[in-house]
Amino acid sequence: MTDVIDAAPRLMTDEALLIELEPEVARLYDRHAGMAQEWFPHDYIPYRLGRDFDKEPWTPDQPRLTGVAQTSFEVNLLTEDNLPSYHRLIHGMFGRGDGAWLNWVGRWTAEEGRHAIVLRDYLTVTRNIDPVLLERGRMTQLQNGYDLPGSQDTLHGLAYVTFQELATRISHRNTGRYSNDPVADKIMVRIATDENLHMVFYRDVLSAALKLDPSAAVRAIVDEVIGFQMPGAGIPGFLRKAAQIAKAGIYDLKAHRDEVLLPILRHWRIFELSGLDAAAEDARRRLSEHLAKLDEQIVRFEERLATSTVPRIATAK
Ligand SMILES: [Fe+2]
Ligand SMILES: [Fe+2]
Repeated sequence: MTDVIDAAPRLMTDEALLIELEPEVARLYDRHAGMAQEWFPHDYIPYRLGRDFDKEPWTPDQPRLTGVAQTSFEVNLLTEDNLPSYHRLIHGMFGRGDGAWLNWVGRWTAEEGRHAIVLRDYLTVTRNIDPVLLERGRMTQLQNGYDLPGSQDTLHGLAYVTFQELATRISHRNTGRYSNDPVADKIMVRIATDENLHMVFYRDVLSAALKLDPSAAVRAIVDEVIGFQMPGAGIPGFLRKAAQIAKAGIYDLKAHRDEVLLPILRHWRIFELSGLDAAAEDARRRLSEHLAKLDEQIVRFEERLATSTVPRIATAK
């Protein structure tokens, strides 16, 4: 999220953009409300497995999930736990647009809250992760808070959340698969479906913004691709945990390129747009260079995998 190119002129102020986009946000909100299915965390939890912790404390031999499956659930839950920070950011970026924008901010926050609830209930009832470790992790994570690096205007915000929602969808979905637990898998399929609808909403708002101010939108998209970081980056030991998750094939650079960046960039037709200003053309060149570098990093990562002892996810999708 470099700010270098932000000096380039924009056709519209952030306020004007929010106002212009509001009717499309209203349409997409209604579409979302029509597609999203109501669901209840308690329907997904195997309560028959529950025992009192005061009578039978948690011990490390209890989890059925082990290794990276456990790590990935921990990272995914602590990421979802940080909702107060995300709400602050999303409200800061989109809350200045009233009407449908505010409706969306509220709806999105309420849907996201369900994800942490269902994950924590599952992990606690099944004793798959030490509940003390989880609670201490949550305390650390929330006290640190989370901030988006770089620009936090509407275009950068929309670009970031589009990539992030899809990345989270893939990560949740593969965490469920990797667990080899039908209960966990069903929960993760459910959450991943929500994340996909969130991605589609943000992606399509940004499609409308690309028509209003194409050059500024392209520059923002490129900034966010180049500077992308998962929101779990503040979790204690995140780098080590993310490396394990990558080696397991739950979320690695190849998935990031092939299942997150490229489908969205293609949808927005970033490399086909014409009539862009010089700064946006320069951004597109930097995007091509970045993708080429990513290709090299993927090859090197796959070479290193030969010596990895972490079990890989089954390749069947
Ligand atoms: Fe979520
Ligand atoms: Fe989401």
